Amino acid sequence: MTLLDPHPPTRPARSTDRDVAVRILSEAFAHDPVISWMVPDAADRRQMLPSVFELFVDAFARHDETHVVPTADVVAGVALWAPPGTEPIHPDDETAFAAGLVDAVGPHMGRVGTVMELLAGSHPDEPAWYLQFLAVDPVVQGLGLGSRALRGVLERGDAAGEAAYLEATSERNRALYRRHGFRDVGQVALPDGPTLHAMWRDPAPVRS
Ligand SMILES: CC(C)(COP(=O)(O)OP(=O)(O)OC[C@H]1O[C@@H](n2cnc3c(N)ncnc32)[C@H](O)[C@@H]1OP(=O)(O)O)[C@@H](O)C(=O)NCCC(=O)NCCS
Repeated sequence: MTLLDPHPPTRPARSTDRDVAVRILSEAFAHDPVISWMVPDAADRRQMLPSVFELFVDAFARHDETHVVPTADVVAGVALWAPPGTEPIHPDDETAFAAGLVDAVGPHMGRVGTVMELLAGSHPDEPAWYLQFLAVDPVVQGLGLGSRALRGVLERGDAAGEAAYLEATSERNRALYRRHGFRDVGQVALPDGPTLHAMWRDPAPVRS
């Protein structure tokens, strides 16, 4: 297997993947339109994103459904999933998570809170796999690793007859999700900001 292998296997994240997952998420989302709306200054984003993603990576460890894309010698991608029928942030973690977020983002909490409330309000009631974040190291984006990471859980969902849900934060990642069978089911427009696209994917029939 080489770094450019288009088909590296994905695997469940281990506790030792925490730091690399946080780094990849922080770098991949540094210029994301929604994160840039929440924290407009690029230097502020660079400084605070690692603390924010540490909170998410730790909270999602509860689900045991964080998956990484290893290449020959490094982890190059990460996907944070919550399984059907679960809250993305476990109710027992909510208070500590919210306090950690306030510490991490400081004066930006107003906009961060707006996004979180709008997304929680549009979250579907029907059980579905929820993709909180998908990220590939910027130096190896566009090589199929993100698709690989997506397929791992989507194929399991197909086999179990389970749907999936996410919010696309840009036209480019929306196009990627469309290619993987997601369709638009709603929009979340941020005040004077970008629009997130809520997307749903019914389980695909499994070929026998
Ligand atoms: C989105 C992302 C996970 C896809 O991983 P990838 O390995 O680059 O994806 P693949 O090679 O399998 O597919 C390429 C497609 O991904 C999307 N994509 C690639 N780079 C992207 C980027 N920087 N931002 C958003 N989408 C991107 C595009 O649809 C691209 O197709 P295109 O080249 O025809 O435009 C990765 O690019 C990334 O981490 N982007 C920044 C963070 C992000 O937008 N995450 C998703 C929101 S939860």
